[in-house]
Amino acid sequence: MSEPLPFFAAQRTWAEHGQRYAALMAEALATGQALQGPAVAAFEAALAERCGRRHAVAVGSGTDALFFALVAAGVGPGDEVLVPAISFIATASCVLRAGAMPVFVDVDPWLRLDLDAARAARTPATKALIAVDLYGQTVDPDAFTAFATEHGTVLIEDAAQALGAQSAGSIGRLSCCSFDPTKTIAAPGSGGAVLCDDDEAATRLRRLRWHGRDEDGRFATLGYNSQLPSASAAVLHDKLAYDVTWTARRRAIAAAYDEALAHTEHRPVGVAPGRDHVFHKYVLRTPDRAALADTLAAAGIPTRIHYDRPLYREPVFGGGAHDCPAAEAACREVLSLPIHAYLSDAEVEHVTAALRK
Ligand SMILES: Cc1ncc(COP(=O)(O)O)c(C=O)c1O
Repeated sequence: MSEPLPFFAAQRTWAEHGQRYAALMAEALATGQALQGPAVAAFEAALAERCGRRHAVAVGSGTDALFFALVAAGVGPGDEVLVPAISFIATASCVLRAGAMPVFVDVDPWLRLDLDAARAARTPATKALIAVDLYGQTVDPDAFTAFATEHGTVLIEDAAQALGAQSAGSIGRLSCCSFDPTKTIAAPGSGGAVLCDDDEAATRLRRLRWHGRDEDGRFATLGYNSQLPSASAAVLHDKLAYDVTWTARRRAIAAAYDEALAHTEHRPVGVAPGRDHVFHKYVLRTPDRAALADTLAAAGIPTRIHYDRPLYREPVFGGGAHDCPAAEAACREVLSLPIHAYLSDAEVEHVTAALRK
């Protein structure tokens, strides 16, 4: 390989499209409205339409999107929120930030929250359920919606890794997106959004993102300062148009990796029947992760681990053990391979050859 194989797409995306992004950012800034400019409203409208929602409210990060979704849903002290045992930290830390308690639930074979385990973990204090579309594969909207309806639980979708997948951003009462620089639709910085159909929730979210100011200009409720810069919104809007092509390329790479793994002792986490996957991450399971990571590193192929321990083992959540055998086993075995639209055919072949070996 002439240059190192990059785990993330950011540098190569900028090399290919940076001139256009720079011009779009300049145009957004030339309006004089670096925050809440027309580019933000235009991006929000495009995102809402893409996900089939009435409203998209852009905020400063996916982490804030989750926190605001909980607050808008009325989650607070005394409430419990069901969360999967495997995810990025923000899926559960937002619950503590809202003053509520996360209740960790074991995962299904595709490492998303297991609904049978959720049923067992439910108590009268359960107020909400955060369903994570882990690695880019959505949860089953019908099964999760039925669970929420049956148990009177607010369903919040953490779609941070799955934007572009069929039904991503449309599951439950509120859906949360992230545009952090590693995501499939990445901002030049941090960014997020909450999607919903409910006008009242959208109004609450707009107040939350800027100091609780209401439509009469009064600071009526407690709010924060969490805004998507106009320059970022302009770039994100442009990227929405490329998303389909980029996703198709990641799916083709995932198919090549699947094919290569079929001849090995490693197994892809894979796609659940009837579900859609955009391969934000390509994750395999292997009995000897360290050996495989070392072999790939020696061939110049970077890998990462998502995630090396269940969330409840993090000190912030108490750090203790839980009865989540599926999550425990997965966290010992998962390894993520590089996957993005700017890997060349030669690089993909290099990875598949190394896997076959
Ligand atoms: C599943 C999941 N939830 C939430 C987040 C938080 O998003 P952000 O980094 O934009 O705050 C991320 C990404 O970082 C994520 O992967």
